[in-house]
Amino acid sequence: MCGIVGYIGDQAAVNILIKGLQRLEYRGYDSAGIAVMENEKLAVFKKEGKVANLASQLNGNHLDATIGIGHTRWATHGAPSDKNAHPHISEDGKIALIHNGIIENYLTLKSELTAKGYHFRSETDTEVLVQFIADVHKNSSTSFAKSVQLALQRVVGAYGLVILNVDEPDQLIAVRKGSPLVIGRGSSANYIGSDASPFLEYTNEVTYLNDDEIAVVKRDTITLTNGKRGTLTPYFEHLDLELDAIEKGAFDHFMLKEIFEQPDRLLDCMRGRILAQSGNIKLGGISAYADKVYNAKRLIITACGTSYYAGLTAEYLFEDLCRIPVEVEYASEFRYRNPVLYPDDVLLAISQSGETADTLVAVDQAKASGSTVIGICNVVGSSIARATHEGIYTHAGPEIGVASTKAFTAQLIVLSMLAIKMASERHTIQESFRHQLILELQRVPALVEEVLAHADHIRSIAQKYWLASNFLYLGRGFQYPIAMEGALKLKEISYIHAEGYPAAEMKHGPIALIDAEMPIVVLALKDKAYDKVISNIEEIKSRHGKVIAIISEGDDAMKRQVDDYIEIPAVMEYFAPLVSVVPLQLLAYYIGVIKGCNVDQPRNLAKSVTVE
Ligand code: F6R
Repeated sequence: MCGIVGYIGDQAAVNILIKGLQRLEYRGYDSAGIAVMENEKLAVFKKEGKVANLASQLNGNHLDATIGIGHTRWATHGAPSDKNAHPHISEDGKIALIHNGIIENYLTLKSELTAKGYHFRSETDTEVLVQFIADVHKNSSTSFAKSVQLALQRVVGAYGLVILNVDEPDQLIAVRKGSPLVIGRGSSANYIGSDASPFLEYTNEVTYLNDDEIAVVKRDTITLTNGKRGTLTPYFEHLDLELDAIEKGAFDHFMLKEIFEQPDRLLDCMRGRILAQSGNIKLGGISAYADKVYNAKRLIITACGTSYYAGLTAEYLFEDLCRIPVEVEYASEFRYRNPVLYPDDVLLAISQSGETADTLVAVDQAKASGSTVIGICNVVGSSIARATHEGIYTHAGPEIGVASTKAFTAQLIVLSMLAIKMASERHTIQESFRHQLILELQRVPALVEEVLAHADHIRSIAQKYWLASNFLYLGRGFQYPIAMEGALKLKEISYIHAEGYPAAEMKHGPIALIDAEMPIVVLALKDKAYDKVISNIEEIKSRHGKVIAIISEGDDAMKRQVDDYIEIPAVMEYFAPLVSVVPLQLLAYYIGVIKGCNVDQPRNLAKSVTVE
């Protein structure tokens, strides 16, 4: 969702801000803007649409300014437009503010300000906030930072804010509650971002703001305070991230790069966790809570979107291997349902970004109920990673394409390692079987590599079906969540309507949709459900539906039964989702590209969904 960049130093702020905004494009946005300070005045530029529009409006000017803020906006209050884009400016023209999050009581504040004679140029909650802060500052005799803190005591909602005030021209104010902000320490320069990507090429010494902390960021100093605890010493850490991880290199799109990176990222995810010599699994991230986790009475998995499908897949894994009851919940439903939680429950919160608002609230609720809460996140230092008791990072590297691909398979690897470890701790599997599982899991990256070699064939299938307006995806058992994930990928990337179903459910409704125009992607692997899936395929064929099947390598009988097929190498059923999802990612990608869609930044979508 919205992206934030701030800069103070001795270089041209405009260039750093525009480049930073380009790096933030992956988060999804519909307008962009910057404010810099020049000749003791604010210069503000805002444009609907892409950062490139904003850059051409600036046209290489305003290079003298060395302090400024920039924002990419994903509309919540008010349509995408120049006037609703951030930064928003106080009526006296002195204060510029950018905001990620939502101000819930903005209407109350707005009517109070209107009664005082303030006028508003936009429909946003953010403009209300900047006017409110300006009003509090006007009526108090404290420093600007103190006024911001005072004003925020009245504000209900979530925010990550960066503020520039021409009366205190040597500093930026950064403050957070519920929406992430990270500060980068440079040499004679400091940076602020909603994540580190806008300033990664200048520094990777970072400190993450916690809720209710306010930072006064000057060119050479960073002062951190928290209203209740006073002045704090910022904790800087080295972010282990290279610039090429956030660039697309020779690939046409980030999504394609991230699909092709999967073998390497899956290896990264297992590295140091599957111990070669002993054949043991070591999950250092959950060592303090290991007993609680392995002796849990029940597992509750909560997540949204693709991460939820990783959770659904894991349900099959944990139940089968660990004989533990598992519930998988959409975080947005879980948090509003008054769920029954016990201290011996373990909640696994899965999130690529680690910032998804609903998942974060679910984490807080489960912690408040006394359950043990474990995070499975990709983004190091993210809000969910920090809010959970302990966690296991997926180490997939930054995922820039909005549609999740490598983060999903990395989540599945983490969940597989956790399930094997838990099963062995609970003695629900034999030692020899545990060895077999570990050996098989280690083969997965090479198997994914084999599937990637079929990319041209998958593109030719995409060429055949890209004009369809509906798709059905069917799978059973471990492949049912993968059918849902395959359908989600196609919807997001190509805007083609697609539904994922358990194959047996077809007869209970979706079969009515099938005709000669309807492509149906069937996950038809040689697993326990194979014979049943063959019957489902026959039912489709007798209604003239077109079957694109994901099949086990060498299944010649299946090849003759279906219209098109993609072969995947044989793999144990437990880990087959890690391999079978890859052709579905590629199919969605190629259909999106053939249709001319913006596959890296699909319309209306955001990379991290920080609002409820
Ligand atoms: C789909 C996709 C989304 C996310 C969902 C949760 O490709 O990326 O469905 O999976 O928004 O996001 P995280 O995992 O960041 O909590």
